Amino acid sequence: MLRRLHHEQPESFEFTPANLEWAQTQLKKFPVGREASAIIPLLFRAQEQEGWLSKPAIEYVADMLDMAYIRALEVATFYFMFQLQPVGSVAHFQICGTTSCMICGSEDLMQICKDKIAPHPHEVSADGKFSWEEVECLGACANAPMAQVGKDYYEDLTEEGLAKLIDDMAAGGNPKAGSQIGRFSSEPASGLTALLESETDKEDYNGSVERAVKIGDSIKRIDGQEVPLRAPWAANQRGPIGIMGTQQRPKSAVQQAALKEPRPSKGKPVDATGVTEQEAQAVEKGNPPGKSDPVAAAAIEAAATGTQEKPAMLSAPREDGADDLKLIKGIGPKLEETLNQMGVFHYDQIAAWTGAELAWVDDNLEGFKGRATRDDWVEQAQTLASGEETDFAARARKDGIYD
Ligand code: FES
Repeated sequence: MLRRLHHEQPESFEFTPANLEWAQTQLKKFPVGREASAIIPLLFRAQEQEGWLSKPAIEYVADMLDMAYIRALEVATFYFMFQLQPVGSVAHFQICGTTSCMICGSEDLMQICKDKIAPHPHEVSADGKFSWEEVECLGACANAPMAQVGKDYYEDLTEEGLAKLIDDMAAGGNPKAGSQIGRFSSEPASGLTALLESETDKEDYNGSVERAVKIGDSIKRIDGQEVPLRAPWAANQRGPIGIMGTQQRPKSAVQQAALKEPRPSKGKPVDATGVTEQEAQAVEKGNPPGKSDPVAAAAIEAAATGTQEKPAMLSAPREDGADDLKLIKGIGPKLEETLNQMGVFHYDQIAAWTGAELAWVDDNLEGFKGRATRDDWVEQAQTLASGEETDFAARARKDGIYD
């Protein structure tokens, strides 16, 4: 199956503050320099936030993880758990069409989807609430045929059962996940034939169904709320596709800077996450963790108070040629070009920026706003301008990888 980015994309993406905090916690699970390992949970959270995974969302996550966009795109386009186009606002049904499910009636289930949702996979229903697709084996073959919705499995489905699920969901219900014929897990449909004693100890539901019932979010995304549609058909069902609305939440300087993994601090950790007392106080004052250096803190202050100042620029590089700005973590070929066009060519220029100047640059990095503060360009440039090497620059020189 061809998996491509949708032809219409929103202009931007940004995690909500709660999701940003969650994402940063995920990053702490991995060793420094290996944060890219968090790509799947972060992409999935972005999808849960928006309902589907847009190009700006993929790039936003790639930026958080310091990954080249192509690497994040490779992940997003490989796994069919990621929806690359708008889906129904209530539920997207993934019907397993592989052998066991096919033998047990998945084609009939797909006919129900065609009749009740939309004639074609990935097409959103007229009311915008549902969509569906056929997927490969989801590993619940003993309970075939089955469908996945969000995080949950609906198993032992029949045509009538699936039709009722859709009707219940459309009416605002949250049907119980798991087997739809009362099986606890994957025991024989006719009942246990061995290990009979286990029948007496079992809970009402197996672990995943129990969790779904407790949280009650089977068809909702993260916080029990239906995700607002971010697609053209929200306002004009099945009408001509227009440009997606921006609906961008205001991006605070603190939030921009908070995208950065906190740097190790000498302070005493106050909790298991390793946040120090000083960092906790900095957060209270509006300075995020990792921004204890005065220039970054001043940049955040300048952004908040609107006192940015344009730094001195050059009309061309000096005689000995421009520095390789890509050796500063966070500056890729595109940003280097943007900076050169602005009149920034050398490490010592960046190293000399004041907080107000750093804030001005951040504000003028179209498409990359906030990155200069977030990635501590000034601090990195100071090291490089003094002739020393940062870890990133050393790695980039060795591997020829810049972003
Ligand atoms: S064949 Fe459908 S879950 Fe495995």
